[in-house]
Amino acid sequence: MIPFLDLTRQHAALKRELMAAAERVLDASQFVLGGEGRALEAELAQLTGARHGLGVGSGTDALRLALSALGVSRGDEVLTPAFSFVASATTIAMTGATPVFVDVEQDTLTMDPDAAARALTPRTKAVMPVHLYGHPAAIDRLAAFARARGLALVEDDAQAIGATWGDRPLGGWGDAACLSFYPTKNLGACGDAGMVVTTRDDVAERVRRLRHHGDTGRYHHVEVGYCSRLDEVQAAWLRVKLRHLGEWTERRRAIAARYRAGLAGLPLTLPVERPGARHVYHLFTVRHAQRDALAKRLADAGVGTAVHYPRAVPDQPVFAADGERRWPEAYRAAREVLSLPCYPEMTDDEVEGVVDAVRTACEELG
Ligand SMILES: Cc1ncc(COP(=O)(O)O)c(C=O)c1O
Repeated sequence: MIPFLDLTRQHAALKRELMAAAERVLDASQFVLGGEGRALEAELAQLTGARHGLGVGSGTDALRLALSALGVSRGDEVLTPAFSFVASATTIAMTGATPVFVDVEQDTLTMDPDAAARALTPRTKAVMPVHLYGHPAAIDRLAAFARARGLALVEDDAQAIGATWGDRPLGGWGDAACLSFYPTKNLGACGDAGMVVTTRDDVAERVRRLRHHGDTGRYHHVEVGYCSRLDEVQAAWLRVKLRHLGEWTERRRAIAARYRAGLAGLPLTLPVERPGARHVYHLFTVRHAQRDALAKRLADAGVGTAVHYPRAVPDQPVFAADGERRWPEAYRAAREVLSLPCYPEMTDDEVEGVVDAVRTACEELG
């Protein structure tokens, strides 16, 4: 069996360091908004080229709070890709604003800047591209578009920590960017956690107060806020893992390079890495016209796979838009995508096992 993902390997290797970090927090016994969280915020602000990091309860909360901090509210529209994890759109709805779905580019499956321009209305307040699977959206074009139209730009960087575009890290291109430390992410907590990073002092200040009951300090509450703070145990664990992120990303890239070589020439679409982009392969997602049959054959051969995502976002029951004609690339992707195992702790033998199984399955499917 080659599991799609096995987090026990990472935690077995780091157990001693993680337990020591947890003990440090217990000894200090400051569990919320303490030194570990502040240190992690500084480390991730530096990694993403932003000035501030604000630790929050999840990636979802990071998006919701960043949008609110930028003044997005009822009556506004926010552009979001029609193909992503659902939180890229539901967080817009949580602010009272309307998510406006934009089709994705055929090769990267990230927001199509031309389609974004066509979706603009006088009510458009912000653009929220997603760096899907760990590959940058066309962030230089989208940032220029947002600047020219006076729109806020929020990067959904949940899947792409450490990725770069034109040698500039993702996360520092707009008004704010949002990280997720969901356990399966490239930098994963042992529970839920997230962060807003921003270069804007005013946005940092507003997120700081929104995450803590609208408090400006000493029980002085100036607006309705939330209770969404990154806890100290998660922060301490994330700091242990952050020291390994560089080598883990290199390993993901090496696995991806082996897949590219081993799967070349098959009737399978491999993920692109655009010139100028540095992909961090949160997911190695291929496309195949008979996706479900391919997944079944791989499962029979003992290879775990997953579908990210089986529905376009507007096609989710929560939005229930009838949109095959409006967002054709997103709907087609939902039928064709299949993620192969790609995580740093995979052995070389497992990587070869995946290559062999995919080759055999594709040949059988013809
Ligand atoms: C693209 C994207 N946006 C937002 C989120 C939400 O993050 P979280 O699960 O930490 O709330 C996720 C991950 O789950 C994601 O993949």
